[in-house]
Amino acid sequence: MFFALTNFIAILNNIIKINSVGGFIINIAVAQSGGPTCAINSSLAGVFCQGQKQPEIREIYGSYNGIQGVIEDNLVDLSSVIKNDDDITLLMHTPSTALGSCRYKLPDFDKDNEVYKKILNTFKKYDIKAFFYIGGNDSMDTVAKLSAYFKANDIDIKVVGIPKTIDNDVAMTDHTPGFGSAAKYIATTMQEIIRDSSVYYLDSVTIVEIMGRDAGWLTASSGILKVNGEVAPHLIYLPEVAFSIEKFIDDIKNVQKSSKSVIVAVSEGLKLENGEYVANSCLSDTVDVFGHQYLSGLGKYLENVVKKEIGCKVRSIELNVLQRCASHIASKTDLDEAMMIGEQAVKNAIEGKTGVMVVFERISNSPYTIATNTVVIEKIANKEKLFPVKWINDSNNGITDEAIEYFLPLMQGEISPLMKNGIPVHINLMHHKKIK
Ligand code: F6P
Repeated sequence: MFFALTNFIAILNNIIKINSVGGFIINIAVAQSGGPTCAINSSLAGVFCQGQKQPEIREIYGSYNGIQGVIEDNLVDLSSVIKNDDDITLLMHTPSTALGSCRYKLPDFDKDNEVYKKILNTFKKYDIKAFFYIGGNDSMDTVAKLSAYFKANDIDIKVVGIPKTIDNDVAMTDHTPGFGSAAKYIATTMQEIIRDSSVYYLDSVTIVEIMGRDAGWLTASSGILKVNGEVAPHLIYLPEVAFSIEKFIDDIKNVQKSSKSVIVAVSEGLKLENGEYVANSCLSDTVDVFGHQYLSGLGKYLENVVKKEIGCKVRSIELNVLQRCASHIASKTDLDEAMMIGEQAVKNAIEGKTGVMVVFERISNSPYTIATNTVVIEKIANKEKLFPVKWINDSNNGITDEAIEYFLPLMQGEISPLMKNGIPVHINLMHHKKIK
């Protein structure tokens, strides 16, 4: 019903737009960047739907593989691939980045402006006057550099950032779209792990490795199970405090006094007192263009430590990419907010804003109320918002009730994905990508 209404409004707007040629009609473009989430396509849907409603906007282009698509002139007219309400719903329920993604760092334009000229050429070719970039803190570096370049050269192209990341580590926003769904998956999966790991009458330790780079938000979210009466995960370790192997072993031995099955949540980015990653010796040397090391293998590393030091049955589980794209257990709140922040970004650009990112501000936890605002991009790009140390318990191995109050509203609500042969249906927008 809602989409039928928005479609009707879109048709009306298109009639108005045709009559307004020669006026202030513009085209816009949108791209997705960084690691996948369940909600990034909802923000794409938000930009698309608001673009269709906005009388000033005619064409809405999608760029394949983030800013790389703009550089290489690989755009798609989104109305040719998102054709109706059903496609919008499918897009919202499809995880990952429907237009593909990139990890691309723009050079400083005063040192090398070649790539900026290419971007400008593409924008001129398609008459694009506003660009929306959906991404995390690294992707906001692109928003910052691009908007600064346009301002410095007196070019009227608006650039607006739309946050997303499962890591929840983007500065100046209460939370990021994508986080609530990943947290819901982690809590749900952790509960299933607890059920599975507690069946035998024998001592066991199960270590669950969770993503988040240098921020512990996601790992911490496994602690919400407490509100449903679970005592596990018994131990939660976050990168915000230095990790000690000796204390870790002591903590496990302590829990073993009252529980045969010990469940531990560890953040992939745990560091020792000296600043080195705990699993440094096992990490690959692969570093992305923003200098982030590829983190994986901490769980296995700790599994071997526990085997050696305690000697009971030990299993490690690395949730890995499963936690980014688990749309079957997506948070409806997350997807709805992701759509809303995409819509808001378009309104902000039309109001004349540029060089900003749209942020969420939390008004209250109960009832859960949020508002949107904009923040200048320089305060956000390349910064990292860590999990508050005041929300970590005194023993540095768990979270406080205040943290749970923060998490809970973000994970509420379920979606009913369209199923085919018992499997959720996803939309594929990559068919139209030019192969170069
Ligand atoms: O930034 C999101 C994230 O999923 C991190 O949690 C993780 O460390 C990283 O991306 C993995 O990066 P990639 O997708 O490049 O392997």
